[in-house]
Amino acid sequence: MCSYCGCRSISLIGRFMDEHEDIVNAAGILQRAADGTDPHGVREALDHAIAHLHPHTSAEELGLFGVLRRNPDFTDHVDALCAEHAALDALAERIRDGETALIDRFVVELRDHIDKEENGLFPAAAIEMDGPDWEEAITLTPVAIRADDPHSHPHDDVRSH
Ligand SMILES: [Fe+2]
Repeated sequence: MCSYCGCRSISLIGRFMDEHEDIVNAAGILQRAADGTDPHGVREALDHAIAHLHPHTSAEELGLFGVLRRNPDFTDHVDALCAEHAALDALAERIRDGETALIDRFVVELRDHIDKEENGLFPAAAIEMDGPDWEEAITLTPVAIRADDPHSHPHDDVRSH
């Protein structure tokens, strides 16, 4: 498990893992909104989940993934993860268009995708990348919006940032 290999201590990976937690929490709110156990609307909860997901996936793709992808041993794996980002976006769009029956599938695929990153790509990156690689990945990665996140938070009432 990545949690035990120490790669979280690499700042960029630690940031991405923190963002994964936020995304999974937002997906949980979406599921509960859909089954009526959360007072927020499905649309609001979906927008909230996407507001966490999009900056995160583009940050991964612009920085860490871009640097790793140059290594032929990682190209296919990175491309597969980028395709999963696109597939998650497509599912979210269908949910936005009213296919709320897809919410459970969205959450399952999201968790599976995060598992592949945290227990596959991130530990491999920690082994593979050297100091200049990390400096380049960090330079290419947009600044996190988490600290002063401007969008509304359905979970502001239950959890502080
Ligand atoms: Fe991720």
